Amino acid sequence: MTTVLQANPRQFVSTEFTKQIVRRALRYLQSGFAIHLRGPAGTGKTTLAMHLAGLLGRPMVLIYGDEDLRSSQLIGSSSGYTRKKVVDNYIHSVLKVEDDMRQSWVDSRLTLAAREGFTLIYDEFNRSRPEANNALLSTLEEKLIVLPPDSSQSEYVRVNPLFRAIFTSNPEEYAGVHPTQDALLDRMVTIDIGEADIDTEKQILVTRVGLDRIQALKLLNLIRSFRYKAEQTKTSSLRVCLIIGKICQDHEIPVSGQNADFRALCFDVLLSRYGKSAQIAEILTHLLDQLP
Ligand SMILES: Nc1ncnc2c1ncn2[C@@H]1O[C@H](COP(=O)(O)OP(=O)(O)O)[C@@H](O)[C@H]1O
Ligand SMILES: [Mg+2]
Repeated sequence: MTTVLQANPRQFVSTEFTKQIVRRALRYLQSGFAIHLRGPAGTGKTTLAMHLAGLLGRPMVLIYGDEDLRSSQLIGSSSGYTRKKVVDNYIHSVLKVEDDMRQSWVDSRLTLAAREGFTLIYDEFNRSRPEANNALLSTLEEKLIVLPPDSSQSEYVRVNPLFRAIFTSNPEEYAGVHPTQDALLDRMVTIDIGEADIDTEKQILVTRVGLDRIQALKLLNLIRSFRYKAEQTKTSSLRVCLIIGKICQDHEIPVSGQNADFRALCFDVLLSRYGKSAQIAEILTHLLDQLP
């Protein structure tokens, strides 16, 4: 069963930084092209993809990239046999079961979205093996999805002109990520998403977690300095700040190096992610000592 989603516009924080990406992305989508949001983890790609899909105003379907995804799953598959049960209304003892040897065909999310003209979000699509994504080539270029012979349907699905696709990916140096096929990259417009400016991240923290502006800024500066000094710049600060910020907010813990609970919270959240080496612990201790 495929779930068709609707975006929740209230959750999206718009700033100059996000607005200029949205403006470009919408332009390409409106001209009929698929777009690809590429960037490090935690830079807001999935959130942005959902927001864009919401702005397009069509129902959206979501696929997550997955090492085990097979190309048949991307197109659809035959599932089970149809069985008809006929109950005779006059003679109750008669129960006739007809086995109809036709298999029933189930559209995949891609095929459903293409057929109906929905917006497809394929999140972290380069976690799937490149060959599993082959069906996308003809979907984006020839606007056709070729169905397998056993689909007992017509041989192909013509892509509805309203169909749009939004891809997201993490850079290729991430674990569990495959190199993206050039042929696929060639059929979409890629927008590289970097770390948001501090004002955008502050506004997201304030809106999503309810921290006041001063605490949000203190927390962001702490985490940014820590990542910079510990040379951990592969992911953005946002996810970590959202976690620490929410726990501070829920438990009335002040963002302060003088507070033991705050210090313990930072150690728990940061060291588990960025390594437990003595050197990293020392960097964090030093930064917390300096935080009023
Ligand atoms: N513009 C935004 N408005 C509101 N929340 C955002 C925004 N951008 C990112 N977030 C929040 O930041 C976190 C990371 O964003 P996400 O979209 O999951 O990043 P990515 O997909 O790049 O790893 C999420 O909790 C998300 O809700
Ligand atoms: Mg994501």
